Formats: sequence, C-alpha cells, structure tokens
Amino acid sequence: MLNNKNILLIISGGIAAYKSLELIRGLRKERANVRCILTKNGEKFVTPMSLAALSEHKVYTDLWSLKDEREMGHIRLSREADLIVIAPASANLIAKMAHGLADDLASTCLLASDKPIMIAPAMNPMMWNHPATQNNMKILLQRDIIQIEPKSGEMACGETGIGRMSEPDDILSSIKDFFSEKPLKNMKAIVTSGPTYEAIDPVRFLGNRSSGKQGHAIATALIQAGAHVHYITGPTHLPHPKGATIIEIESAEEMLAHVEKNLPADLFIGAAAVCDWTVETDHLQKIKKKDNLTPPQLNLKENPDILKKVSLSSKRPQLVIGFAAETENLNNNAKDKLKHKNCDWIVGNEISPEQNVFGNSENQVCLFQYTEDRKEIIQTDLPRMTKIKIAQKLVNEIIHYFETIQKDNRNECTNPSLNVVPYGSQ
Ligand SMILES: Cc1cc2nc3c(=O)[nH]c(=O)nc-3n(C[C@H](O)[C@H](O)[C@H](O)COP(=O)(O)O)c2cc1C
Repeated sequence: MLNNKNILLIISGGIAAYKSLELIRGLRKERANVRCILTKNGEKFVTPMSLAALSEHKVYTDLWSLKDEREMGHIRLSREADLIVIAPASANLIAKMAHGLADDLASTCLLASDKPIMIAPAMNPMMWNHPATQNNMKILLQRDIIQIEPKSGEMACGETGIGRMSEPDDILSSIKDFFSEKPLKNMKAIVTSGPTYEAIDPVRFLGNRSSGKQGHAIATALIQAGAHVHYITGPTHLPHPKGATIIEIESAEEMLAHVEKNLPADLFIGAAAVCDWTVETDHLQKIKKKDNLTPPQLNLKENPDILKKVSLSSKRPQLVIGFAAETENLNNNAKDKLKHKNCDWIVGNEISPEQNVFGNSENQVCLFQYTEDRKEIIQTDLPRMTKIKIAQKLVNEIIHYFETIQKDNRNECTNPSLNVVPYGSQ
C-alpha cells in the first residue's frame, strides 16, 4: 500500500523520538521512501546516524547547510512528499506551526508546503493540557491537519496522564489508512444521532436515554470509508466525530429543519432517538409549583416523522436507513416500520431493560432489508457486539450496496455519461 510513497518524517525534540526509529523501520518494510528532518533539539534524543541508517537516506538538520540546499533544498524537501508526518511533535513545534513561525528547517519546510500533514503529539500531560497547547491544536485541526491522538499512561518523567505518543504501529496504521482506497469517496451522508429534547418550559424538557454512541460510531465509520458526513446531533456528552460537519440541535423540529436543509445526499441514516411527541404549548416562563394546586396537564402533540419525510422527499437519498428501537416484538415492529416509512433498511435495536444498551458500548441489533424487487424482507441477526463493530458492519453493507448499484449501472448503461454520479462529487 505504501509502495513508493514519499513520506517526509519530521522528528522534534522529545523523549518519544526513539519511537521514530521503529516507525521508519515499519515504513521501509512497507516500501515507502522516507526522508527525515531532525530538529536541533531532536538531535539530543536520537542521532542522525541511526535515522540515516534506517531510512537509507541522508538526514536533514540544518536550514543553513549550503550543501543540503544545493542537493535537495528545503522547498523541494517539502514539495516532493506525498505526506508529511511529524512524530514526535513537540509542544514547541506545534506552537510554531499554529502561528506560522519558520525559524529552523522543520518549521520552514512546514510553512513552505501544501502537502497533507499528520502529527503525533508527544509531551508531558501538563504541557498537553495547557490552554496554549490546546488552542494551538485547535488551530491546526481547523487546517485539516490529521492528528494521531496522544495516549494516556505513565510518562518517561514519571507523571501519568494524556500525552504519550501513539505507538509506531498505530501511526503506521494511520498512514496506511491515509493512502487506502476510500470506497465511499465523494458520497454525502446525513447521520442523525442522540436524543431530542422537547421543551416544556425554559428549564424542563421531555427526552430519552439515548447516549448517541451508536450514531457517533456510524458517523466515524462512514468518515473512515471516505464519506462527507453531515452529523445532526441532539444533546450528548460525546466529543463530536472528527472530520464531520457538525450540526447541534435540541428538538425534533430543529432536527427535521437541518436534515431538509442538508438534502440532497446519497445516504441518510436516522440513528437519533427522536421523541415521538412534543409539548403543545412551550411555556416562556418556568411553570411554578403552587401548594394545593393540581399538577399541570401537559398536552402532547405528535412530532414530525423525519424518517418518513426523508423517504418521501423529492430529494430522497439513494439509500435511506432508519432505526427501530423496541422493547418488545422487535422483528414485527421493525418490519412494519420498514413498510410504513418507505425507507430501504431498518436497523432493529433491542432495547429491553435486560439488554442494557443505553449508554453501553455494546448493542444488540438485526438488519431488515428489502430484496431488490422490494417484494420480500431479508432479516440478518447480529450477535451482541460493540457499537463500533456494529457501525463497521453496517458501513461494509452500505459499501457493498453502492458498489453493486454502480456495477449494475455500468453493465446497463452504454452511455457512460448516464451513470449515477454520487451527489457529493457534483
Ligand atoms: C529531557 C527532556 C525531555 C523533553 N521531552 C519533551 C517532550 O516529550 N515533548 C515536548 O514537547 N518537549 C519536550 N522537551 C522540551 C523540548 O525539547 C523543547 O521544548 C525544545 O525546544 C523542542 O524543540 P523542537 O520543537 O525544535 O524540537 C523535553 C526536554 C528535555 C530536556
């Protein structure tokens, strides 16, 4: 996968620099070409000799080396790379990148490059958590720099916390992932996730126990497969999936408005637990509890049916997938939902209290899909597994679906211009 890919590896001054040796070995094993830049402070931790021996190339350390400039030049170094990897990335180098400083070879190459950059931060937990470093990272992430998150654990300095550099194998996997074929490239997906909150008054609401973990895992798996994900989420405690366009909402009405605004798309997955009802009159002031008065009556009205509206929309995505969360009669209820909502697939989700799936990292689902002629429903039961695994299985099924229709189109269509083009690529 990495055969002949040009990787520019920048090694800055941190204890984890020794791990870069293992990374170079892994990259070379995968037949990547590796050029190394070692910062002056990095030289205190690993020697240019070791890096040169493993990378089988000269190691660059100095912006002001006449010989290096004639031979390769800092501009060429940064332009010839298919990917720049910084491992370890020191707090200092991260700060310089965030603010556009160019006072040594590494930072100058980074500023002189338009190539994709992957960074593996490595530092003491206090340095990592410092607002300055966190702000700098935020700036870099806004520039689409790929971050390989630091891990939690015991540090070389004896302290424990987040800051350890990811292991070389994990960095290598991320590099391979970067170069891998993305089967859903150019596809636009809308994923709804989490609960909706229906306001009773400014402080109270009707809600449900959805944690948003399943929708989050699905969005992440879609992003990994190359899709552009528009993630419309109710209130949860989760960090947002990286790489998605995030839309935060509270009520079902708001969720519907944003779903419709984001259509057309190639794919819709309604993983949110949308409240079926909302309160008819939303009070502008807090409803007061008064002695000797009966509790207030809440009149409920039905919320819009987002799944059905998307399925019947003139901008209907090619594939519409809903969720059926049921405490009983899962199979019948899920099949009924598939028929009545006019969607393509239903993920039946067993949520009886014995299954204990709310907030849990595991889930129990089965998939209901129409046959091609829409005359029968195929049911696939999955064993209990993590929500991440379920998301990956679902996304594999989605990839298979789009590959099949693209193949059918190619076979049927003699005029290539009539082939279906993913909406996201238009
Ligand atoms: C023993 C020792 C270990 C260090 N480890 C780290 C580290 O893991 N991460 C980091 O950001 N800085 C670390 N530093 C501080 C950096 O080396 C220092 O900020 C330096 O300016 C970084 O330079 P560079 O970014 O040009 O490589 C360490 C310093 C010493 C003396």
